[in-house]
Formats: sequence, C-alpha cells, structure tokens
Amino acid sequence: MNYRHAFHAGNFADVVKHVALARILAYLGRKDAPYRVIDIHAGAGFYDLAGEEAGRTGEWRGGIGAVLGATFTPEVAALLAPWLDAVRALNPAGPDTAPGALRFYPGSPLIALALTRPQDRLLFCETVPEVRGALEAAVGREPRAKVLAVDGWQALHAYLPPKERRGVVLVDPPFEDPHEFPRMADALVEAHRRWSGGIYALWYPIKDVRAVDAFRRAIERARIPKTLNIQFDLRAVRQADALSGCGLVIVNPPFTLADELRLVLGALARVLATDGTGRVRVGWLTPER
Ligand SMILES: C[S@@+](CC[C@H](N)C(=O)[O-])C[C@H]1O[C@@H](n2cnc3c(N)ncnc32)[C@H](O)[C@@H]1O
Repeated sequence: MNYRHAFHAGNFADVVKHVALARILAYLGRKDAPYRVIDIHAGAGFYDLAGEEAGRTGEWRGGIGAVLGATFTPEVAALLAPWLDAVRALNPAGPDTAPGALRFYPGSPLIALALTRPQDRLLFCETVPEVRGALEAAVGREPRAKVLAVDGWQALHAYLPPKERRGVVLVDPPFEDPHEFPRMADALVEAHRRWSGGIYALWYPIKDVRAVDAFRRAIERARIPKTLNIQFDLRAVRQADALSGCGLVIVNPPFTLADELRLVLGALARVLATDGTGRVRVGWLTPER
C-alpha cells in the first residue's frame, strides 16, 4: 500500500471530514456521560505542512490555508470554532512564528483528543508501522487513548459495542483498493448489528460517480435508520481519477448535525470552491423509523 495521508493533510477533504467530526464531538460533549471515539483508520495524527510530503502537493493551501484566510458570519465561525481551536493549539505564536501562522495540522486523532474530556476514551487503529510510530509520538503519554496495531475492519468486530455505549466510529480508509466502497458498506451493516446506537461517520471520495451511486444504493438497501448523506463537490466531476469532491455517510447523527453542516459546509464551499461550481448536498438516505 502506497497511501500516505501526509500528502493530503489539511486539504479540502480533510476540512470537510474534520469539521463534521468536530461537530459530532461537540454534541457528544453536551452530556457529562463518558463516550468513546473509535478511529479505525487513524493515520499519523500530526502533519508538518512544511514537510516533504505536504510541501510537495501544497493541497493544504486550498483547504485549511484558505479557511484561515477567510471571514465567516458569527454563526458559521461558532460552528467552526472547536475544530479551528484544535488547529490553532498546534500553532502557537512563538519567537519565530507570527500569531495566526500555520505550520502544523492535526489529523483526526489529535482533533478528537483536543475535543474529548477526561472521562472520554479513544481507540486509534493504524496498520502501517511507520505511520503508527508517528501516531504514538503524537498521542504521547495520553492515558485516555490507545493506539492499536489492529486492522481497523477487524476492530469493528473486537471493540463494538464500547462499554460507554455512547460515541462515534470514524471510518476513513485510503480508497486505494477498488473494493473499498462495497467493503465499507458491508462493514457498516455488520458494525451496526453489533452496536445500533453508535454514531458512524464514513468518509468517501467523489471521483467515480458510478462507484459513489452504487455505494449509496447499498447503504439505502441496508435500511439502517437515521442515515444522513453529505456530499461536498468542490467542482463538477471531470475525470474519474481526480478527486472532485467528498462525502460522508453518517448514521445516528446528532439531531443538530444536518442543519449545522448545511450552514457550515455551504459557507466553506464558497471559500474552497473557487471556480463557482462547488455544491453541498445534505440529505437522508434513510430517515428515522
Ligand atoms: C485517510 S488516512 C486516515 C486519515 C485520518 N483519519 C485523518 O483524518 O487524519 C487512512 C489511514 O488508514 C491506514 N490504514 C489503511 N488500511 C488500514 C486498516 N485496514 N486498518 C487500519 N488502518 C489502515 C493508512 O495507513 C492511513 O494512514
């Protein structure tokens, strides 16, 4: 497997995924009861945007870079705040760093660590040893979190349901394998059978619209109640091998999430989709039973 998330860290697709994740965690944190974050494709957790990989593609400039340079309405700014606070916490002003300057970007594990509370627990799976080593260094001696060398798909069998019976499972595979879409749909059905009350957030790329349609239909056929689909098109699809957008299937979303994402992703589309063809769709695949 050649995938290295460091090339893409902080790009528009990370922005969409991490904003949604942060909104879910903000909602879970409204109640004192502990919850669990299970991130089954965790990545390195921490990215140097001036490093070799991110520096080579510069994708972050059209993602987090553009967001930090934009102005939003107070309502949108409030919805972005938990995620942006996690980003800013990694980029403190210092003797060599201007206030507001961006050098480091948190992956989903560090965003989750920043937004969870002392009573919450986190599980991160990462199978690539080198990436897992970087993740362990990023997580450090954090007693709330475990980094596992476990295949994320297997973790759905081994770790569901979590003892807290509240929480979120993030499914964010590299999509290097053409069978990733059907595997993700099957894994969701199986995981939901084990833990029907969990929130599941499944990220997917929009390149090949037929693959996306087939995935959407597979999820619809599964008839899992309360399943939301979000599509963020940065531009009209031109070639099936170029990322033109991304989506998230979210099962059991907080009741606030659909409206929040319509508002905040709409504002982000205006900033990130610079050629005017950006579009956001938020709709139910299966509503509440
Ligand atoms: C898209 S990246 C994850 C990005 C991360 N979730 C974030 O938002 O910052 C996918 C990661 O999953 C890892 N991976 C691939 N297959 C895996 C598997 N079966 N189990 C666990 N991790 C896997 C890859 O090495 C890669 O680091």
